Amino acid sequence: MTGEPLLKVQAVETYYGNIRALSGVDVDVHKGEIVSLIGANGAGKSTLMMTICGSPQARTGQVIFDGEDITRLPTHLIARKRIAQSPEGRRIFPRMTVYENLQMGAGLDNLKYFNEDVEKIFTLFPRLKERQSQRGGTLSGGEQQMLSIGRALMARPKLLLLDEPSLGLAPLIVKGIFEAIKKLNKEEGLTVFLVEQNAFAALKLSDRGYVMVNGKVTMSGTGKELLINPEVRAAYLEGGRH
Ligand SMILES: Nc1ncnc2c1ncn2[C@@H]1O[C@H](COP(=O)(O)OP(=O)(O)O)[C@@H](O)[C@H]1O
Ligand SMILES: [Mg+2]
Repeated sequence: MTGEPLLKVQAVETYYGNIRALSGVDVDVHKGEIVSLIGANGAGKSTLMMTICGSPQARTGQVIFDGEDITRLPTHLIARKRIAQSPEGRRIFPRMTVYENLQMGAGLDNLKYFNEDVEKIFTLFPRLKERQSQRGGTLSGGEQQMLSIGRALMARPKLLLLDEPSLGLAPLIVKGIFEAIKKLNKEEGLTVFLVEQNAFAALKLSDRGYVMVNGKVTMSGTGKELLINPEVRAAYLEGGRH
């Protein structure tokens, strides 16, 4: 891979109080890539995602985005750099309608694109169009995930962070959501960093992947390399969700 990565996580350590959740993590994401981070529950995947967004902040190491050190920036200023995330558990606004949730995702500087962007999201996820006046909390899990991704896209991100988009969803719904991610990447060149316990689906979709164990990256490679790697297969794929 040539050139400076869009996102460079370098020797990052993140703590919750005295407990170290990330122990010297290095991850690169290049422009136009889909990169996945796989690992068991409690490995530190969400912590890395949140550290990139500045909450909690890395205690040591650096997060470089688009050539700029964002390690010590407050979360709202990191968002202004056009890093958007769909967090674990989706975190949509349950009392607001689908349309209002999308409004919440659009930054003030994007208002001139608002109608165009909403239409794009409705084309990507027609279910959201059908349900645009319905409250977020009344949607199915899959629809809430679509809304969470749609809301993140309203920010016109350069980098989209997705934390466990497949969690708790039926395989067919997962397939649809992963196809939408692939489409965004192919057609719009969107760069995606994806956290997943569903290693098979994530690696199949990804250009490259990282494996995290106990707050450390233990392996990395192309999606294909990791899919056929015996250690990865034994730990994350055999008997897992295929
Ligand atoms: N808010 C928190 N306070 C204390 N410990 C936390 C907090 N969030 C996560 N942890 C701990 O940090 C470790 C990594 O958690 P997390 O990043 O959520 O893992 P993953 O997303 O891979 O399941 C776990 O041991 C978890 O218990
Ligand atoms: Mg998590």
